[in-house]
Amino acid sequence: MAHTLMPAATADVLHSRTDLSFRNGKYLYEIKTKGAAPELTVTDGEHSIAADLLWAFGTGKLGQSYLFLRDGKYLESRVTYFSSLKNLDFTPTRALPSPHDLAEAQARPVDIVEVRRCFGCHSFGANVAGRLDTSKASLGVTCEACHGPGLNHELAMEFSQWEDRYGQEEGRKLIFNPGRLTPSDSVDFCGSCHGTWMDVKLAGTTGISNVRMQPYRLMSSKCWGTGDKRLACIACHDPHQPLSTDAAVYDSKCLACHVSSPAARATKDHPGAVCPVATKECTNCHMPKIEIPDMHTSFADHLIRVVRPGAPD
Ligand code: HEC
Ligand code: HEC
Ligand code: HEC
Ligand code: HEC
Ligand code: HEC
Ligand code: HEC
Repeated sequence: MAHTLMPAATADVLHSRTDLSFRNGKYLYEIKTKGAAPELTVTDGEHSIAADLLWAFGTGKLGQSYLFLRDGKYLESRVTYFSSLKNLDFTPTRALPSPHDLAEAQARPVDIVEVRRCFGCHSFGANVAGRLDTSKASLGVTCEACHGPGLNHELAMEFSQWEDRYGQEEGRKLIFNPGRLTPSDSVDFCGSCHGTWMDVKLAGTTGISNVRMQPYRLMSSKCWGTGDKRLACIACHDPHQPLSTDAAVYDSKCLACHVSSPAARATKDHPGAVCPVATKECTNCHMPKIEIPDMHTSFADHLIRVVRPGAPD
């Protein structure tokens, strides 16, 4: 999460590739990096339009999208880099098969309120007194984004220094510790960027289009009940560590609640029943990966359930 926003001029994804292109009918999209500034050009065979990319959103682990300025207004590149394709394709949900002109083919105008929102989730401190000011922002989801502005980088890197300087209790109190939230508040905390249950209800997104709203899917699971810290996001994900893709790592999380022997019955401590089918790699079957076509890859469904063929997502 830490590197999810950077100036396009420093984006490795763009510097490491020289052949980024995408064709839609007569329109050919290319991103070329000459020197520092990556340039997005679109040609329709007769004319072409070019722009210097300004901001790169996304680590590139899945994909990366670009914003640039024209006449003081922000635009979002119509094409995004996808790591699964190792190339460009339409930006998710922004496909425009028959644009009216080159400008529309090239990019979507993004009003400043929306731009501020992008920076709000992908950086910290870029919105100053209601205006976008990136000069002092920490780009990416940095320590401050979750622990508040009280967290001084260098000191925090060596957390023990806080304790040495202020004593254990005081040192800890100086930063906001999201680990102390109730289970629901904790999920909402991650949901402030990942989408809360309320966000999904208000937007009315249904079916697979909310698979990436993990808080909503998770809280809709039978496992969630009325909230339990064994099922908060941080029970399975340490935000300070890379995402684990080994299903076995998650087994202990499930078995914190589910009994594991066929003879055992659910108890107050372990309210979950035993699986009649398997004893390990639970997430492979109960949190299946669902393909999102626009993203050219699949995502773990956080609606934990028995998956029945033909049942709706
Ligand atoms: C300030 C916004 C913000 C908050 C708060 C936030 N995230 Fe994220 N998170 C992001 C963004 C943006 C990405 C996408 C990174 C990318 O691929 O560019 C991300 C990615 C992730 C990933 C995928 C990482 C990977 O390597 O694929 C996990 C897991 C995750 N977040 C968990 C959490 C958890 C758990 C919390 C709460 C403790 C949380 N996030 C809070 C913004 C946030
Ligand atoms: C409400 C917070 C929020 C806003 C607003 C937001 N993002 Fe994100 N963005 C995220 C999170 C969270 C992820 C990681 C999602 C995941 O891995 O499930 C992400 C991931 C991404 C990625 C990586 C590819 C991917 O889909 O994982 C790109 C690119 C991206 N966002 C671009 C943008 C752009 C451009 C804007 C503004 C037009 C924007 N985002 C607005 C929270 C936000
Ligand atoms: C995506 C949100 C997120 C980001 C980014 C993040 N943290 Fe955390 N951090 C948390 C959460 C949530 C906890 C509580 C974990 C728990 O209780 O299991 C935590 C706990 C901690 C703790 C332990 C606090 C205590 O009292 O035990 C320290 C120290 C810490 N984080 C430092 C950092 C530093 C330094 C960075 C930047 C390199 C950082 N964190 C980035 C969410 C985040
Ligand atoms: C019971 C364990 C569990 C809990 C709780 C959980 N996750 Fe996950 N999460 C997983 C698994 C398993 C994966 C898939 C890892 C892989 O790629 O193999 C995953 C993947 C992700 C990813 C990467 C993109 C994707 O969807 O595949 C993000 C982002 C994420 N989780 C966010 C969250 C957030 C936010 C919460 C809290 C609402 C949460 N997770 C709660 C198990 C969990
Ligand atoms: C906080 C405790 C808790 C955690 C953690 C938990 N569960 Fe559950 N789970 C429950 C409870 C309670 C039920 C409902 C009672 C029952 O059916 O056993 C349930 C129900 C289920 C069901 C049946 C759902 C249905 O649609 O009938 C499955 C499957 C399941 N859990 C799998 C898992 C898997 C896999 C994990 C780990 C990824 C997990 N659970 C983590 C408590 C939990
Ligand atoms: C190979 C796929 C697979 C794996 C791996 C798996 N399960 Fe299941 N599980 C199923 C299927 C299929 C069912 C439905 C069985 C039925 O209803 O006949 C099920 C049912 C369940 C139920 C509902 C039981 C009930 O009485 O209603 C729970 C709870 C559950 N699994 C938990 C787990 C846990 C926890 C793990 C990991 C320790 C796990 N499962 C691993 C396929 C799997």
